[in-house]
Amino acid sequence: MKKLRLNKFLSNSGVASRRKCDEIIASGKVTVNGKVVTEIGSQINEKKDKVMVEGKAVCLPSSFVYIKLNKPKGYACTASDEKGRKTIYDLVDCEERLFSIGRLDYNTEGLIILTNDGDFANKVSHPRYDVEKEYRVTIEGKIKESELAVLRKGVVVDSQKMPPAKVKLLSQDENVSKISVVINEGQNRQVRRMFEAIGREIKLLKRVRIGSVRLGGLSRGQWRDLTEDELNLLVGKK
Ligand code: URA
Repeated sequence: MKKLRLNKFLSNSGVASRRKCDEIIASGKVTVNGKVVTEIGSQINEKKDKVMVEGKAVCLPSSFVYIKLNKPKGYACTASDEKGRKTIYDLVDCEERLFSIGRLDYNTEGLIILTNDGDFANKVSHPRYDVEKEYRVTIEGKIKESELAVLRKGVVVDSQKMPPAKVKLLSQDENVSKISVVINEGQNRQVRRMFEAIGREIKLLKRVRIGSVRLGGLSRGQWRDLTEDELNLLVGKK
C-alpha cells in the first residue's frame, strides 16, 4: 500500500499549501487515528489512516479545482473569520475544500486564486518560482518622482528593508495618483507598509495580476475556473 508524507497528504487534500501544512502539523492540530502527530515527515496510509485537522476529517479530493476570484473590499481571506466578518468563501460556490494562494487584506480588492491542489499552490507561492504580483495603488494628491525612486530601491519598513519593487506612475492630477507596483514576495501588508513608510496612505489597493494570470474582466465578487492556458502559463505544463 502506497504511503504518503503527512504534509503532502494534507496539502493534496486542500487544507493549505505545503509550507502552511507544516505549520499546522507542528502546532499539534493534526491527529492520525486519534493521536496527535507533530512530525512533518510522518508517513500515512491514505486508504487506512484517519487523518483529522482540528477535529475535522480530511480526505483526498476526487478532482482538482483552480479558481480566480475578484475579491471585493470588505471580505476576509480566512475560512472562518474570528470577528464574524464576510469571507471570500461566501462568494465562491464550490463543494470542494479550497484555500487561497496568498491572501489579500480585508480592505484590499482584486485577484485571488483558490485551489485544492497543494503542489500547485506550493509552486505559485514559493519564492523559488519568483511569481510576480501586480497591484494598482491609488493615493491622494501628486506623488513625487523622488518618492517613486525610494519605493523602487527598497523602502525601509520597521527597520527592515523591503526588496526593490517595480514601480510605475500610471496617471496623476492634483487630486489623485495611480501607481502600478510589482513585487515578488508576499509579506504581510507589504504594499500598504511601503507607502506608509514614505508617508502616504493608500486609498485603494487592488491586485490585478499574479504571474501571467490577470484579473481581466471579472467584476467584483465574480469568479470563474482558470483556463488550461492560464494554468500552463502560471506553473509550466502540468
Ligand atoms: N500588500 C498589501 O498591503 N495588502 C495586500 O492585501 C496585499 C499586498
